[in-house]
Amino acid sequence: MSSTVIVGAQWGDEGKGKVVDLLAERSDVVIRFQGGNNAGHTIVRDGEEFKFHLIPSGILYEGKTCAIGNGVVIDPGVLIGEIEGLRRRGIDVSGLRVSANAHLIMPYHIMLDTAGEAKLGKLEIGTTKRGIGPAYTDKAARLGIRVQDMLDPKILRKKIFAAMEPKRQLLRPFERDPRLDLHAITEEYLGYGHRLEPHIADTARICWDALDTGKSVLFEGAQATLLDLDHGTYPFVTSSNPVAGAACVGAGVGPTDIDEVWGVAKAYTTRVGAGPFTTELFDEVGTHLRDKGNEFGTTTGRERRCGWLDVVGLRYAARLNGLSALAITKLDVLAGLDPIRVAVRYRSSEGAVLSEFPYHQTVLHGATPEYEELPGFSEDIGECRSEADLPQAARDYLDFVERQAGVPINLVGVGPGREQIVWRGDSSPSA
Ligand code: IMP
Repeated sequence: MSSTVIVGAQWGDEGKGKVVDLLAERSDVVIRFQGGNNAGHTIVRDGEEFKFHLIPSGILYEGKTCAIGNGVVIDPGVLIGEIEGLRRRGIDVSGLRVSANAHLIMPYHIMLDTAGEAKLGKLEIGTTKRGIGPAYTDKAARLGIRVQDMLDPKILRKKIFAAMEPKRQLLRPFERDPRLDLHAITEEYLGYGHRLEPHIADTARICWDALDTGKSVLFEGAQATLLDLDHGTYPFVTSSNPVAGAACVGAGVGPTDIDEVWGVAKAYTTRVGAGPFTTELFDEVGTHLRDKGNEFGTTTGRERRCGWLDVVGLRYAARLNGLSALAITKLDVLAGLDPIRVAVRYRSSEGAVLSEFPYHQTVLHGATPEYEELPGFSEDIGECRSEADLPQAARDYLDFVERQAGVPINLVGVGPGREQIVWRGDSSPSA
């Protein structure tokens, strides 16, 4: 395993953090390549819970280099809070590196995110209101403030002024808000720069050095394929590219540097925020999935929408990311449901059979799922550690998903704990 990209294969919250945590153990460098603190990973280690929004969870391994790549948008206050929280719990954060080229989330980005959603009213996207969209907007408009700017007082002030000027109209409702005082923001961000300075680095070079010396790099994606700005259910998407190709741009490596791409998917589907969701359930099965799967957002605490697994979406994700493996999480949540349904194709509102994820938004909005039914299982599988331990129905379910997705399932999650996993084939680190 020299260099592997981990991506979400659905609408996020698939449990990427746990998979990253497991693979980080055998990686030398872990680097986040997109998104910001709209992400949230929960890691359970020896019964202790850790929540991460920006720092790769690999930081829990002593001496591991964990980097936040140039493709990430960073709220420095949140990052410092996370660093301090880890320090207080005795975690060594000296291996944390932050790209000097990563863009910063500024106070006005957060205000604009909230105001933008309010303006959309019923058409709102349901963003996490962390300023992600406006920060990426400024990056593309070349009005972004980068991590390196926090180390240069003159440049910082000029750039903040230049970024805020064109937003005067939009920011008028916040005219008297002290958080938007040019002097105050400059001082605040200089302070952040001072505190983050020991961690600021050329993270692309860190990856190259690792790759050149035969070390392994793990590229950690946030959000997921169906939230991708280009390939997701636009406009109900995030403002970055969570697909595997973005690992190259967001970390600064080339496509030939990547050996494997792992997609993470739940054994069912969830989504937070607005937008189409073909297999969404509003019945007692949806309630079962939400309650048993504890489907409430790590970042915003919002209730997640729940539904059956959708292999139409999964095949789309396999193709877009060039998946070489799948990790199926939360299989234990399906226990007690009989039959288990899996959407294998859609039917358009005109009655056409759709075996591929429709590219047209109107078609997707009108599509209904067509299910195959598989026998369920009732056993608690939380203690299973090998495929042979799993009930036959659970094994059949995995085989079915693997065949339908056309990608081998290497790893299965059977509970929230780090040890609650089943490795398949020869993918286990001890194989
Ligand atoms: P934003 O990324 O905050 O702009 O939100 C855009 C859309 O992406 C909304 O539907 C969010 O709910 C969704 N989203 C953003 N981050 C995550 C995540 O980490 N998990 C699940 N959904 C997310």
